[in-house]
Amino acid sequence: MSKITVAIDGYSSCGKSTLAKALAQKLNYNYIDTGAMYRAVTIYCLRNGIIQKSIVNQKKLMDCLSDIEVSFRYNTVTKTSEVFLNGEHVEKEIRTMEVANHVSAISSIKEVREKMVILQREMGKHKGVIMDGRDIGTHVFPYAELKLFMTADNDVRTQRRLDELSSKGEYHTFEDVKRNLEKRDHDDTTRKENPLIKAEDAVVLDNTDINKEEQLEFVMKLIEDLLLTKDEFNQAPSKH
Ligand code: DC
Repeated sequence: MSKITVAIDGYSSCGKSTLAKALAQKLNYNYIDTGAMYRAVTIYCLRNGIIQKSIVNQKKLMDCLSDIEVSFRYNTVTKTSEVFLNGEHVEKEIRTMEVANHVSAISSIKEVREKMVILQREMGKHKGVIMDGRDIGTHVFPYAELKLFMTADNDVRTQRRLDELSSKGEYHTFEDVKRNLEKRDHDDTTRKENPLIKAEDAVVLDNTDINKEEQLEFVMKLIEDLLLTKDEFNQAPSKH
């Protein structure tokens, strides 16, 4: 059966990664969380004094950019690819509020994006990939067979993020988390370099009022229809 590329973009905490992981498992595809890559670079910057008092020292970052290596390794227990920064497993650390508060600034830097996009295209070049982020359908894989644009009500998203953080022992107020989400959405949609916008041919998925199972079923149906058409097309006898 043919393989396709599924590009998932959308606002912060819309459940992109939950959907992407479930699709990857069902289809036996690779899941690439591109937000995790920008978060890993942010950790490097926080640890190496490139971000100080929330200010990014761009000159220092440019000098160090070639020393930052971001990669993924498949974890057979969690059945998902986990992110590594210069060989160190940072999957847990990337989810902290400190990283969330600084990642938009790092991900808006052209040179950082260019470096990450090269890796993303390399990882997806054989198709059979579900990639989520902000510019996947518009920039990284503009020819992806399926593009989804995810959104949900701000309060619903805030509560989901709050639950995710508290399940990891990080406690914050609803207002703090909401402010962070709204700021990131604002930064991600208004930045100069490949901002978050809906690709013209993306399917909008608002999951405010639907649960994970309903959402998965809806998207699986889209994918099955696509695969069927693709395979029928490939098998059609040539008219010449
Ligand atoms: O999906 P996430 O919340 O883990 O992403 C973290 C940040 O990285 C988010 O604020 C926007 C940025 N990002 C991006 O600019 N482009 C991507 N392809 C993925 C994430």
